[in-house]
Amino acid sequence: MSSQLAEILAPFKGKKGVTIPALQQVQEELGYLPREAIDEVSKTLRISASEIYGVITFYAQFRTSPRGRHVVRVCRGTACHVRGGGVVLDQVKIDLGIDENENTEDMEYTLETVACIGACALAPAMVIDEDTFGKVSPGKVSEIFASRRGDN
Ligand code: FES
Repeated sequence: MSSQLAEILAPFKGKKGVTIPALQQVQEELGYLPREAIDEVSKTLRISASEIYGVITFYAQFRTSPRGRHVVRVCRGTACHVRGGGVVLDQVKIDLGIDENENTEDMEYTLETVACIGACALAPAMVIDEDTFGKVSPGKVSEIFASRRGDN
């Protein structure tokens, strides 16, 4: 992986203030930021690993563990919460057999929660990759995953 990393990071070598774009580029290529990548960014940009971890922790876009092929985001914002977002999240956990920020064993899905997905009028809402599902109920959650598995 280190030669691949060296290639990804080559355009950033010797430049200042490029930590974020460099991390974005690595994540785009690898899907996440493994420890090895952070060490390589540290070496290439001559900044400490702890400084890089600080950036990663600050920006929600960065992740240090791999994600599944599909990302499920359940809204935990106020509008969704008052309309049953909690039970929707519980049902997703049951259907996928995972908790928040976990991947299914087959790496098909990652489950995340978000503060608001900008579809408050459709609360409770969830998103799978780019598809938004509104006015979701626990029954609808199960239907969505069943149809994605080709069960109906
Ligand atoms: S609060 Fe859930 S979409 Fe806005």
